[in-house]
Amino acid sequence: MIIAIDGPAGSGKSTIAKFIAKNLNYRYIDTGAMYRAVAWSAKNEGIDLDDENAVGQWVAELKIEFVANPEGQQVKVNGENTAGLLKNEIVGRGAAKVAAQKRVREILVAKQKEIGQSGNVVMDGRDIGTQVFPNAELKFFMDADAEERGKRRYLELKEKNMNVDLENIIAEVKLRDHEDKTRTISPLHPAEDAIEVDTTKFTIEEVIDQVMKQINLKQNS
Ligand code: DC
Repeated sequence: MIIAIDGPAGSGKSTIAKFIAKNLNYRYIDTGAMYRAVAWSAKNEGIDLDDENAVGQWVAELKIEFVANPEGQQVKVNGENTAGLLKNEIVGRGAAKVAAQKRVREILVAKQKEIGQSGNVVMDGRDIGTQVFPNAELKFFMDADAEERGKRRYLELKEKNMNVDLENIIAEVKLRDHEDKTRTISPLHPAEDAIEVDTTKFTIEEVIDQVMKQINLKQNS
């Protein structure tokens, strides 16, 4: 099976996707990490992320690998391990910028199709159920109130002893939602046949339970 999990930042999709992949012994592919990898590596190369032609040329040459490890996955960019380097707000802002560019999306979507074609994969992102695998056997769309998603992000960063402000983080979440939902190419929206899960009032365990029930139903149908 191919299981597509889409949703906005902080909706809980990657936590759930990782858990399901481990549980089913499937591969887990975090497609957001690919957009982040493009932004991070292009910036390191001194490329202006607003220069669509330069970014397009860069992404065409870029080698992105997912290496399975006990934690789920490791992302390598041109052979370099990116552990701990992609999940920050600066790279996130750059990722949102390159994710709105046509060439970047064409190349990354093609790579994602190639990675997933052998099946038994849980892929999370924004357009997996709508563009990458419109025929995926199961599609979930996770969402939660922006305030709740901001709070989750705040607590996560606090735990890492970072100096953060809740109101700022909620504002960033709302800004990212706006960018992801209003861009011209592949804006974030649920596929027509996606199962929508609002995680605002549920614990991770409760969401996992709901999702696993749907998977079991599908497997037994
Ligand atoms: O899920 P994330 O925060 O790591 O994603 C980073 C950015 O990449 C975010 O702005 C949305 C974008 N993205 C996308 O456009 N399509 C995907 N399939 C995955 C992420």
